Amino acid sequence: MDAIRIYGGKCLDGQTKIQGSKNASLPVLAATLLIKGTCEIENCPEISDVYHMLRLLESLGCKVIREGTLVRVNTEQVSECDMPADSVGVMRSSIMLLGALLARVGRVEMDYPGGCVIGARPIDLHLQSLRKMGVTVREREGGFLACVCRLKGAVHKLPFISVGVTENLVLAAVLAEGTTVIEPAAREPEIQTLCGFLKLAGADITGIGSDRLVIRGVSRLEPVSFRIPADRIVAGTYLAACMCAGGRVFLQDAPERHMESVLCFAGQMGAGITCEPDGLMVTCRARPKGCDRLVTGCYPAFPTDLQSPFMAAMSVSDRPGWVEENVFENRFRIVPELMKMGADIAVCRNRAYVGGRSRLRGAVVQAEELRGGAALVAAGLAAQGTTIVTNRHYIDRGYEDITLSLRELGAEIELA
Ligand code: EPZ
Repeated sequence: MDAIRIYGGKCLDGQTKIQGSKNASLPVLAATLLIKGTCEIENCPEISDVYHMLRLLESLGCKVIREGTLVRVNTEQVSECDMPADSVGVMRSSIMLLGALLARVGRVEMDYPGGCVIGARPIDLHLQSLRKMGVTVREREGGFLACVCRLKGAVHKLPFISVGVTENLVLAAVLAEGTTVIEPAAREPEIQTLCGFLKLAGADITGIGSDRLVIRGVSRLEPVSFRIPADRIVAGTYLAACMCAGGRVFLQDAPERHMESVLCFAGQMGAGITCEPDGLMVTCRARPKGCDRLVTGCYPAFPTDLQSPFMAAMSVSDRPGWVEENVFENRFRIVPELMKMGADIAVCRNRAYVGGRSRLRGAVVQAEELRGGAALVAAGLAAQGTTIVTNRHYIDRGYEDITLSLRELGAEIELA
């Protein structure tokens, strides 16, 4: 079955190694299109979104060799082409190929990338911003054709912060004619990783980590070897799982310097966190302390991708609290599923009241998207009895093997 079975009510005790970052790997893989030759990307997570990205690169003429978490991409033979709709549709990050492909071949035809249950996830700002760099975009039924002779640097004063738009504009700007300014730029660690990769290859980027990026176009980039950092969202998910179940876990390689808001919040909820040289030691009591409000926002604020796993922890905490979701318009989809398990939650527009003090009970619940699915698994660890989380394939998009990792942390969990 495409499901996970969790025997809940047990404290965790163990350690697991945190995988490479999905949201850093995807833009770095897209960036290899800008470099003629072979790039080596280490610590690339073995997840379905990376599989789809590698398929898309191969459909464009790249030679891809994968040995576990080491990926080699040779882009000598890249040619313009339509990307396979099934991979484009299933993975939004395919939009990240747009900027890189326009820089490389000057023409891209693709279907609109899929939205998902967390929101409409339009690409209007992507297209509007690329037009400012000289790109002609002709929309067609279900997709568009984008063309440009030579990308030109531009000053982008964006109406709001977007991770994907920032990444696409960086990819379009590094080989463009002239200088590009992106303001406000997203500051997520994954963008800092992308800029680090591109600088290593010879790009001229300043302001990395700030909300103003300045990219001066260069004539070419050189092949490099690069290591993807550990995934801060996966580490935060297992931290939330420990808060749900209680216990003591070691999260090897957890990137604590990129988890400040998450660790601060977990500390307020009673988690004891020790930063070791090679990871995080986390100790949680059986029932977390409640907290008044969890508010998501752009980095360095609390990440929207950990809102659902922390909502699961708040639902078993010792007092009520509020969750405020400010990034996506529909990211409370797990609420009905958590309520099937006995959680006390009420949603009003972009805020959710979480009653806390719930004793969750095992149930059959349905994952509808990646992080919500992981949150239901975390809730199953806290529940008395057996929980079945269906639609495991959503979770496999971003977690290499959540059952293995949680079993290493002491959970009684199996594929169902
Ligand atoms: C990236 O999505 C991440 N995905 C998301 O992680 C993450 O939640 C999100 O950034 C926010 O941090 C990847 O990196 C592959 P946005 P992205 O553009 O780039 C709106 C996960 O679970 N918007 O920062 O799509 C958009 O609808 C995923 O790993 C427009 O309106 O996010 C959203 O409301 C989920 N028009 C807001 O901006 C546009 O043209 C921020 O989205 C673009 C975005």
